[in-house]
Amino acid sequence: MAEKKKFYITTPIYYPSDNLHIGHAYCSTAADSMARFKKLTGYDTYFLTGTDEHGAKIERKAREKGVTPKEYVDHIVDGIKDLWKLMDIDYDDFIRTTDDRHVATVQKVFRKLYDQGDIYKSEYEGWYCTPCESFWTELQLKDGCCPDCGRPVERAKEESYFFRLSKYQDWMIQYIQDHPDFIQPSSRANEMINNFLKPGLEDLCVSRTSIKWGIPVDFDPKHTVYVWVDALTNYISALGYGTDHDELYRKYWPADVHLVGKEIVRFHTIIWPIMLHAIGEPLPKQVFGHGWLVINGKKMGKSVGNVVDPVILCNRYSSDAVRYFLMREMPFGSDGEFTLQSMLTRINADLANDLGNLVSRTVAMIEKYYDGIIPAPGKPDEVDNALWSLALSTPGRVETEVNAFQFSTALSTIWNLVGECNKYIDVTTPWILAKTEEGRERLNTVLYTLAECVRRVAVMISFVMPRTPERIFAQLGLTDGALKTWESVAQGEFAALTPGLKVCKGEALFPRLDIQKELERDAPKEEPKAEAKSEAKSEKKKHAAPEYPQEIPIDDFFKVKLQVARVTACEKVEKSKKLLKLQLSLGPDGNRQVVSGIAAYYTPEEMVGKQVVLVSNLKPAKLAGIESQGMVLCAATGDDSKLKLVTVEDGMEDGAVIS
Ligand code: ME8
Ligand code: MG
Repeated sequence: MAEKKKFYITTPIYYPSDNLHIGHAYCSTAADSMARFKKLTGYDTYFLTGTDEHGAKIERKAREKGVTPKEYVDHIVDGIKDLWKLMDIDYDDFIRTTDDRHVATVQKVFRKLYDQGDIYKSEYEGWYCTPCESFWTELQLKDGCCPDCGRPVERAKEESYFFRLSKYQDWMIQYIQDHPDFIQPSSRANEMINNFLKPGLEDLCVSRTSIKWGIPVDFDPKHTVYVWVDALTNYISALGYGTDHDELYRKYWPADVHLVGKEIVRFHTIIWPIMLHAIGEPLPKQVFGHGWLVINGKKMGKSVGNVVDPVILCNRYSSDAVRYFLMREMPFGSDGEFTLQSMLTRINADLANDLGNLVSRTVAMIEKYYDGIIPAPGKPDEVDNALWSLALSTPGRVETEVNAFQFSTALSTIWNLVGECNKYIDVTTPWILAKTEEGRERLNTVLYTLAECVRRVAVMISFVMPRTPERIFAQLGLTDGALKTWESVAQGEFAALTPGLKVCKGEALFPRLDIQKELERDAPKEEPKAEAKSEAKSEKKKHAAPEYPQEIPIDDFFKVKLQVARVTACEKVEKSKKLLKLQLSLGPDGNRQVVSGIAAYYTPEEMVGKQVVLVSNLKPAKLAGIESQGMVLCAATGDDSKLKLVTVEDGMEDGAVIS
């Protein structure tokens, strides 16, 4: 047997500076979809992601929180991994730049470049943008600020090592011109050449003495390695490059594609290839720069504060629906406006209506007219043939489109088949065919055709929607793995499905959403007022109300530690109508479990993702036999008819102390 073709794909490694937003999820979903597609179509695939944990930004954040940088990042990395799990991001390896394996490789590469004279010691004087971790020359500044993000820059002057980028400038220009596929979309190649390479490359400052949180230069440890040199090396350190265990490196390098957002194409198509070329290693075959998710035209980002939380979206609408929306809504490579309304509209139109109805109508008719047994087809007529030939040509088109990163087009190609199937039902009118003997014979072919098309659609969507296909197969009564493969839809014969399977109607794949209701649900809510209405104290009050003293010394108040906490998981407490068990994250201060008497007012689903106010130094107690480590604050009416959680305005960090 011929050896399988290899495919190595990476996402950028993410800054663990805060909770990731749906813009980050966009990049990972695309990489995961591509990786799944390659696996499906027979490639030996390797998919790498990870986190970029060094640098001044992290150092500062950790200091602000009073924890070590490593403690700070450890906690966030756990959250990132949870998010990828929630979104079915099925990576093969997760590299952290704090991993020993990575540190050793970066040191090795740095030393090699130094030994061969590509890195030399000098003095750095210029400007540094800490949020972007970028150096700028006077000329590059825009109105005295960072040309990328517009924020103020800082003057930096120190002894530094420099990497001779200038030496490789002409080689780099030539390489890009000779390899038109290297930078995609190709417009970005011109941008690199005209804006960065042609004006002239300056040698790059690749070490700092003022930043401690970084990988030390092993032969001069007061220096730490510049974060981008550190970060870019992840793509080979994860494969064991330069170690005794470099099997993965030898197998998968060069990468087939580095998938990155457009603002970091520059680092991946200038610094990274020059580093690789200098150490004598092959270049990645492609760097694909995708567009941004924007809100009101502005890049979604933590600094702008316009972020949408993917955890909430996935918990409410399912990860398959979120993934579908991200890959379908905008052409890959371009920016796209994110609105909840457009997402909900798509879920209803494409998933609940088009796909959901096709599956449920098909299965319902087979149940009704054939006692649930998929009939054998007769000879197809013209109408059937048209649909059969569309079903046969669709996989090839999808393959071409996905391979060109045209996810949106590929999905619309699949949905074209879905649409034609729905039309086919309207045209063939199975409910009329069912009434006559002659019609029954046609009906065999019609319902078989629909079942087989549904199977094909399920196989084809699996790279974007990994959960839905199994739910569809279950409804078709299909268990045979051979009929779930790409081969089984890409081959030349239409009638692959075995007649005689017993279908089984299941729940609606994607329940229709009440868009208005969903939008209201997300509308900013009025903050509950925390002041207790003590005058309104009712006789009927069930919990003994504390007798508040007239006044207390402020020191007494200061004994109570209040912190912002985020609900990461929530469930009902068995045998209790009142209690919910909450898992809370206090950011760098770790996790807590709290039992709270709010089950009559909030469902567990509603709670997940909310930020609450926690009395975090309350002595732990047992409620219904379950340990509760603190108390969540609520505002309630005297008679308990109304209760609302106390929360904080958007954008507050988990663990923040309230005072
Ligand atoms: O840049 N829309 O990390 P990062 C689409 N650590 N994509 C977005 C986005 C949005 N609104 N916001 C962010 C870094 N991204 C470096 C990478 S690689 C050796 C080092 C994408 O966490 C962004 O474009 O700031 C980038 O590709 C990825 O998320 C990570 O961004
Ligand atoms: Mg960024």
